[in-house]
Amino acid sequence: MPKFYGSNFINDLFLDQTLKAKDFGEDFLWGAACAAYQVEGAWNLEGKGASVWDTFTHKKGRIHNNENGDVATDFYNRYAEDIALVKKLNLKVFRFSISWSRIFPDGIGKVNPKGVAFYHKLIDECIKQDVTPWITLYHWDLPQKLQDQGGWANRDIVNWFSSYTHFCTKEYGSKVKNWMVMNEPAAFVGLGYMLGYHAPGIINPYKFLKATHHTCLAIAEGGRVIRRNVVNANIGTTFSCSHIDPHRNDLKDGNAVARLDALLNRLYIEPSLGLGYPIDGLPALKRIKRYFEPGDEEALKFKFDFIGLQNYFRVVGKKSLFPPYLWAKQIAAEKRNVPMNEMKFEVYPEGIYKILKQFSGYNIDNIIITENGVCYKDELVNGRVHDKERIQFFKDYLFNILKAKKEGVPVNGYFVWSLTDNFEWSEGYEPRFGLVHIDFQTQQRTIKDSGYWFKDFLTKD
Ligand code: GCO
Repeated sequence: MPKFYGSNFINDLFLDQTLKAKDFGEDFLWGAACAAYQVEGAWNLEGKGASVWDTFTHKKGRIHNNENGDVATDFYNRYAEDIALVKKLNLKVFRFSISWSRIFPDGIGKVNPKGVAFYHKLIDECIKQDVTPWITLYHWDLPQKLQDQGGWANRDIVNWFSSYTHFCTKEYGSKVKNWMVMNEPAAFVGLGYMLGYHAPGIINPYKFLKATHHTCLAIAEGGRVIRRNVVNANIGTTFSCSHIDPHRNDLKDGNAVARLDALLNRLYIEPSLGLGYPIDGLPALKRIKRYFEPGDEEALKFKFDFIGLQNYFRVVGKKSLFPPYLWAKQIAAEKRNVPMNEMKFEVYPEGIYKILKQFSGYNIDNIIITENGVCYKDELVNGRVHDKERIQFFKDYLFNILKAKKEGVPVNGYFVWSLTDNFEWSEGYEPRFGLVHIDFQTQQRTIKDSGYWFKDFLTKD
């Protein structure tokens, strides 16, 4: 047992003896994830067009320390080294996303051959190193040219997205079988069109509803295009989700939790499952019907082969007079005196068990945890990062996932967020989520203790 287990000795010993990768089953998938804008850099090189994140980060005052993804982790040039790290950590799957504006600089029309070639090289390198590529088609970096025409609030986006998906799956579908349509719609639509905290920085409830409907249509349409184009495809899409508790055990807070649940957990998944929008949970959503056209009810449905769930924190909610229509608010972890990570997200391992149980109430055959992870203030000292708390985080979260699995929840994979430290959206480079530390001055990669822990965990009998 490595020395750094230290203080929590009894607990570690217990978990070490009980938690084994093989208990998750031979076919359980272990992977690491990243996203184009957070790692690639090369934001304007070799024909790439600007995305909404390029525009957003280049405006002063939007991002912590005015940082941006212009260089990020230089993955565009260092992808082979990073795939070798996936391999070295004994992970089998590498999840990454395609930057839409690297392929289509204007979002539609003219193709950028160098961008197309880049993803071929990336995929080929994965295959060469015996790492299975899992591709996300959309991880938030919409081509700016499409944003100029309204972005997700313009219904034409369903066709734009369909053409982009058609192109990518025709181009790469003979080599890549595992596809995810979209990453966390609740986050990019909610933060991007309602709260203005993420690109494109819009605060407008009508645009939020439109963008929601068009995103849900595009999720199902993306699934259909992949099914048509890729033989033997394994098709999924990912959703953020959080277990929600009421502040007080009374009816008012209980109803507030139901509304938050509709907004944060149900809104984007239920249409694809054929359940429509969760208007029963959040009546204000009925206004979304204004944006329906004939046939939409059917067009929202798609039977995915797997659902990707991503969990980072628990939510505690209470009734509130603001914001109107939601009449509910979250109580920040800071005010609750609970364990937190560097982004002030609550660390609450039972939350992943509870949310898996909640989602197992849907008719889903296959769940993959496509992201889970934690950011701490990691320090590189004498060539090592002793991130003991992250190791504990993985043990506790994996323990809870295994518990859900043993109780029959069909969870069949776990991808760590993230392989390397990277650009954390509006928080810039400060929060570090990686199994691998990045020195952003030199781009040097150093495997953290948590990376070595994962490696051992995956090799042990
Ligand atoms: C998200 C994204 C990731 C984040 C991660 C940590 O869910 O926000 O998929 O891009 O970096 O969640 O916040």
